[in-house]
Amino acid sequence: MKLNKISTLYFSPTNTTKTIVNTIASVFTNEITNYDITLDRSIKIDKFKENELLIVGFPVYGGRIPSLVVDVVKNLKANNSLCIPIVVYGNRDYEDSLLELSDYLQECGFKIVSAGAFIGEHSFGSEIAGGRPNSHDLDIAKNFGVKSMDKISNTNSIDELKNLNISGNYPYKEATPSNIYWGPETLDSCNDCGQCKDVCPVGIIDKENPKLITDIKKCLHCCACVKSCPQNAKVMTSEMYKKFKGFLISTCSQVQKQPELFI
Ligand SMILES: Cc1cc2nc3c(=O)[nH]c(=O)nc-3n(C[C@H](O)[C@H](O)[C@H](O)COP(=O)(O)O)c2cc1C
Repeated sequence: MKLNKISTLYFSPTNTTKTIVNTIASVFTNEITNYDITLDRSIKIDKFKENELLIVGFPVYGGRIPSLVVDVVKNLKANNSLCIPIVVYGNRDYEDSLLELSDYLQECGFKIVSAGAFIGEHSFGSEIAGGRPNSHDLDIAKNFGVKSMDKISNTNSIDELKNLNISGNYPYKEATPSNIYWGPETLDSCNDCGQCKDVCPVGIIDKENPKLITDIKKCLHCCACVKSCPQNAKVMTSEMYKKFKGFLISTCSQVQKQPELFI
């Protein structure tokens, strides 16, 4: 099959998902249309036609794809278009996220060429999978892109694409309950540069006074504000954060997991 168009779609507060998706996309020679929904989930996304490929990536939140992207995915319009679903997780587990994403895409009219779960530095800190994706991960992503491209070239008709045995279970893992609210705090070292407000996916850092968090209930805990602050002035201090992070350091920081590919 010959591809007429390639697009990417991702949500990526701390850029690890974006890096993996862009690396896979970089091996294709077509011009690429990017849909970055990190800051705005209402952008217009064109309908995908036959002989078009979408590479779509999300971080894993609680073994699922982030709930705030579900409607965007479910509302994609496709007609026998090709797709490559990707999830990026922080070295704990990706559980049902890749299966969930793949199911939604197929319900929209996509055919899956290949799928992958990659590892990115955990949102909660560089103690867990620090520096990932590293150069080895990026080589794997590139090679996966090449194999996916070859698979498309060697496929005559979309009906030849067989179902992939993507890891995951039904029913999907229950979404993490969100009845305890916590989020970033601002230290006195904040110099109001405002970089944090520009990266918050849910816009809860006050535009005029970036020291102020306007609606803690909406915080995703993505840590984009924490990781982007040049003064290290945005910090997570809540007991919930300390508990999760302690658990992750003790259980998920020793063994470096490797990408899992389905092709
Ligand atoms: C709320 C939340 C839940 C997360 N849940 C998981 C998880 O279930 N398993 C895991 O390995 N990593 C988990 N992570 C870590 C992210 O999946 C990981 O750091 C990812 O690389 C972040 O992607 P990004 O850089 O595109 O934002 C979670 C992160 C957040 C903020």
